[in-house]
Amino acid sequence: MDSIYLPRAYLITDVIQETDGEVDVKTFRLAAKSGESLDFMPGQFVELTVPGFGEAPFGFASSPKNKDYVELSIKRVGVVTQAVHDLSPGDAVWLRGPFGNSFPVREMEGANILYVAGGLGLAPLRPLIDYVFHPENREKYGKTKLLSAARTPADFIYKYDVGRWKECRDFEIFQTIDAPYKSWEGRVGFPHELLKTMEILPDSLYAVVCGPPIMIKYTARALKELGVCESRIITTLEMRMSCGVGKCGKCNIGRRYVCVDGPVMRLSDLAQMPDEY
Ligand SMILES: Cc1cc2nc3c(=O)[nH]c(=O)nc-3n(C[C@H](O)[C@H](O)[C@H](O)COP(=O)(O)OP(=O)(O)OC[C@H]3O[C@@H](n4cnc5c(N)ncnc54)[C@H](O)[C@@H]3O)c2cc1C
Ligand code: FES
Repeated sequence: MDSIYLPRAYLITDVIQETDGEVDVKTFRLAAKSGESLDFMPGQFVELTVPGFGEAPFGFASSPKNKDYVELSIKRVGVVTQAVHDLSPGDAVWLRGPFGNSFPVREMEGANILYVAGGLGLAPLRPLIDYVFHPENREKYGKTKLLSAARTPADFIYKYDVGRWKECRDFEIFQTIDAPYKSWEGRVGFPHELLKTMEILPDSLYAVVCGPPIMIKYTARALKELGVCESRIITTLEMRMSCGVGKCGKCNIGRRYVCVDGPVMRLSDLAQMPDEY
C-alpha cells in the first residue's frame, strides 16, 4: 500500500461556479493523472495540496459510483481555498486519501432518509444522495426527503441537480431561504422551523444533517423533539485538521480525533463529547 502521506497528482478537468452571492463556492472535477480511480464511501474526505500554498481537507462531493473523476466543492475562505479558486482546467493539484469514516449506509438500509442541508452542507450529502439513488441501491432504502436551506437564492449549490433529483422515485425536495428576498416565491425560514410543518415519521427515519454548527444544533434539537432517536441523527464535523490520519492531534474533541473517529458522527456520540465543535 502507498504511504498515507504520499499525495497523487490530479488534473482539473472542469470548474463549475456554484454561487453568485457573497459566498463564493466552486466545484472542481478532478481526474487522476495515472488514470486510477479513487474509491471512497459517502462522508469521507481527502487532503488537497496546491503546491506553494499548502494542504487542506475537503469532503467528496460526487457519486462514489463514478470511477472516472471525483468532485470537490470548495468555498473560498483563505490561503489554500483562494489558491484552488485561482486554478483552471488543465492545472494540477495533489490528493491524499480517502480518509475518515463514512455514513452508515448498510445500517440505514430499509429506513426512510431525511437529508437536511445548510448552504455548503449539501456537498457531503450529495455522494450519499447519489449512492442511495444508484440503481444497485435504490430498492434497499425507503422514501427520501431533502430540506435544503441557503441564505439567499444565489447561495444554493447544485441548482442543476434539482431537476435530475426531482425525477427520482420517492424523493421530495424542499428549499428554503433565511429571509424574504426579491423574486423568491418559495419557502422562507430556518430548517428547524420548517421541520415542524413537514410529515416526519420518526420511528423509521435516519436524519442526516450537514451545515454550519449552529444550524446543526437547532435542527438536531427539533428532530429530537419530533421523536427521532439521537443515534439516528447523523452529521459531519469540519474541525481544523493537519495530518488527516490520527497522528498530529490537531483535530481532537476530548479524546476523539475527528479525522479518524469522524468526520461522520451521531448525535448520541456528540452528546458524550465536550461541546467544542
Ligand atoms: C473533514 C472536512 C471536510 C471539509 N469539507 C469541505 C468542503 O467540502 N468544502 C469546503 O469548502 N470546505 C471544507 N472543509 C473546510 C476546509 O478544510 C477549510 O475551509 C480549509 O481548510 C480552509 O483553508 P484555507 O487555507 O483556505 O483557509 P485559512 O487561510 O487556513 O483560514 C481562513 C479562514 O478560514 C477559517 N478556517 C480554516 N479552516 C477551517 C475549518 N476547518 N473550519 C472552519 N473554519 C476554518 C480560519 O479560521 C480563517 O478564518 C472541510 C473540513 C474538514 C475538516
Ligand atoms: S488531523 Fe492530525 S490527528 Fe486529526
